[in-house]
Amino acid sequence: MELTGTTALITGAGRRLGAACALALARVGVRIVLHHGTSAADARVVSEEIQRLGGTALPLAADLADPEQVATLLPRAITLTGGIDILINNAAIFIPGGLRDTDSESWQRHLAINLTAPFLLMQAFARQPHLQPNGDTRVRGKVVNLLDQRIDRPRPGHVAYTAAKSALWSLTRMAALELAPAIQVNAIAPGPILPAADAPLEQFQRIAAATPAGCPGSPEAIVDALLFLLRHDYITGDKVCVDGGEHLL
Ligand SMILES: NC(=O)c1ccc[n+]([C@@H]2O[C@H](COP(=O)([O-])OP(=O)(O)OC[C@H]3O[C@@H](n4cnc5c(N)ncnc54)[C@H](OP(=O)(O)O)[C@@H]3O)[C@@H](O)[C@H]2O)c1
Repeated sequence: MELTGTTALITGAGRRLGAACALALARVGVRIVLHHGTSAADARVVSEEIQRLGGTALPLAADLADPEQVATLLPRAITLTGGIDILINNAAIFIPGGLRDTDSESWQRHLAINLTAPFLLMQAFARQPHLQPNGDTRVRGKVVNLLDQRIDRPRPGHVAYTAAKSALWSLTRMAALELAPAIQVNAIAPGPILPAADAPLEQFQRIAAATPAGCPGSPEAIVDALLFLLRHDYITGDKVCVDGGEHLL
């Protein structure tokens, strides 16, 4: 799909990997609807940077834990832009908890933000008039869901997070089948790219050093995989593990 002149909605794009993806897509001429939750100030900075580069960025706030706010997010984005061609489900929470100590609230919150929100957004995305089946095999829409390499190698400690991401991978493949050929649906499964703010840095460094690659990945590695999937018109229902081979261990 020719990316220049298309419009993308990226969730959780105020900071970190979402912001890197927003800037990279803007650099190749994609208009960005930059969703954020609490990071309104960061989203404004990213939007200004995109505008400085000559691009278009429209910040849009929504709490993805609230299905009513999720339900209005895509219609609001469409009203602002006329239509969304690319949906990137990047926003997520990553809160530790094993099977014994994950409470119902944490479980529900992970499912709401990491699974239900991407589901509702994909549904609203696929219902847009310009993405309906019309007998044409031309790819007109793209979805990329951010997963995690740990879905291939479950480990204790993040039960709700891993279950939600695993279900999102399942949903990715179902959506790819159902929405082809007009819409392609793929995923990126990162490994250690950026350390979590609330986890010890040494732990992140130890995990990154233990990958086959022996080091952490960079946001640019995620961006490269994203651009590859968005530009490629014969891949759907697949995932790219950007994890230095961690999923193999
Ligand atoms: N970083 C890594 O090394 C790594 C590794 C494996 C997988 N991943 C996956 O890659 C993606 C991006 O990673 P990241 O580390 O950049 O993510 P992150 O910083 O943990 O979260 C991304 C964004 O999600 C948004 N978010 C969370 N809860 C929300 C809510 N209730 N409503 C609205 N927005 C909400 C936040 O937006 P606000 O700040 O605006 O509230 C946050 O900035 C995630 O899906 C993550 O699971 C990342």
